[in-house]
Amino acid sequence: MTQADTVELAEGFFTDPHELYRMLRREAPVTPVSTREGMRAWVVTRYEDARPALNDPRLSKDVSRFHEDGPIGFLDRHMLSSDRPDHTRLRKLVSRAFTVRAIARMRPRIEEIAQGLADRMAAKARRDGTVDLLDEFAFPLPMTVICELLGVPDGERDDFRGWSNTLLSEAPPDEHEAAVAAMSDFLSRLVAEKGAHPGDDMLSAIVKASEDGDTLSEGEAASMAFLLLVAGHETTVNLIGNGALALLRHPDQLAVLRGDPALVPNAVEEFLRYDGPVNMATFRYTTEPVEIGGTRIPEDQIVLVSLVSANRDPDRFGDPARLDVTRDVAGHVAFGHGIHHCLGAPLARLEGEIAFRTLLDRFPGLTLAGEPATLSWRHSTLIHGLTRLPVRVGIP
Ligand code: HEM
Repeated sequence: MTQADTVELAEGFFTDPHELYRMLRREAPVTPVSTREGMRAWVVTRYEDARPALNDPRLSKDVSRFHEDGPIGFLDRHMLSSDRPDHTRLRKLVSRAFTVRAIARMRPRIEEIAQGLADRMAAKARRDGTVDLLDEFAFPLPMTVICELLGVPDGERDDFRGWSNTLLSEAPPDEHEAAVAAMSDFLSRLVAEKGAHPGDDMLSAIVKASEDGDTLSEGEAASMAFLLLVAGHETTVNLIGNGALALLRHPDQLAVLRGDPALVPNAVEEFLRYDGPVNMATFRYTTEPVEIGGTRIPEDQIVLVSLVSANRDPDRFGDPARLDVTRDVAGHVAFGHGIHHCLGAPLARLEGEIAFRTLLDRFPGLTLAGEPATLSWRHSTLIHGLTRLPVRVGIP
């Protein structure tokens, strides 16, 4: 193929993006792509191009260059859609709550949530035989944690999962619009509620900052809530789901981990490298013509840096398609790089560690139910994750 060919991202890409990326890294490392929904963008696939691109100021995150009000309306005024100096101001408002030390204080509560979910999963498995690891464990764990942190009431969480899924998937335009409207409504109500009855939670603090004057507008407060809620669960669910699948397909690695549970934090890093949750959800926009990896990208183009591809680049990680929980994975880009490096990384790492410790400890006979070929993946070019993960837990 030539550099000018546009690659269409079709069905097979969702199930196994690695095959296409292997070819692109070799033959067209920076290439135009189109999705079935008609989005056209340039995708960057090699590690040596991806890492600097993530921190290149000529690649703006400011989505308002493209859409007057952002593709998701007023909810798109958050730090991940901003450049400096707005980005610095917005990130600073919440960054103290996400330091490694602040997050470490959440360990006992996260362990308690994980144990409660494991109890429920065991009971369900006794009744039904097979359980969906995503529904019972991988999803509710990060969702409960981020909702408790932000102060989202219990009864309001389920709808949010559906809308969030629609926004990140290849949904028809009318479904997308309906999800944006429902989500905007929900967040506006939530922000108003926190303003009227502030609690001891992060969202109340954010709303208070917006009321106190010029640090944060009302729209930015709702956008911040949106970003933290979506980023807080859509990704970690797939760290747990993709990681569990990888382990269950590699019994030798599962045995290594069972033999030495101190390896769990390193295994979590390897899961992030091997099959990370964020595929191409790294929107950037060229503010001028930019050359990446020898390819000239014109001004005003969308650039998507594929983290899944960069993390499997053989020039950076030897034998990249091999899962190795003892591997030195320093430098992987699953959490991005540069000023937008994931704010929630310490939380995601802690949740991942607790999730895998709990699964290993509570379910010594955990196996896949059914053939790996029958698994179904989400129809999203942005997020890389399963729709279901049926397992047997192997307890009497
Ligand atoms: C940004 C990945 C969990 C909050 C990012 C970015 C990536 C990422 C790749 C940067 C995207 C870009 O540069 O375009 C992940 C992964 C996670 C995870 C793989 C789980 C395994 C979380 C959690 C939170 C969170 C639990 C908690 C709220 C954020 C925020 C940003 C961000 C606020 C924007 C940072 C900025 O623009 O400065 N994440 N994330 N993430 N993530 Fe995460």
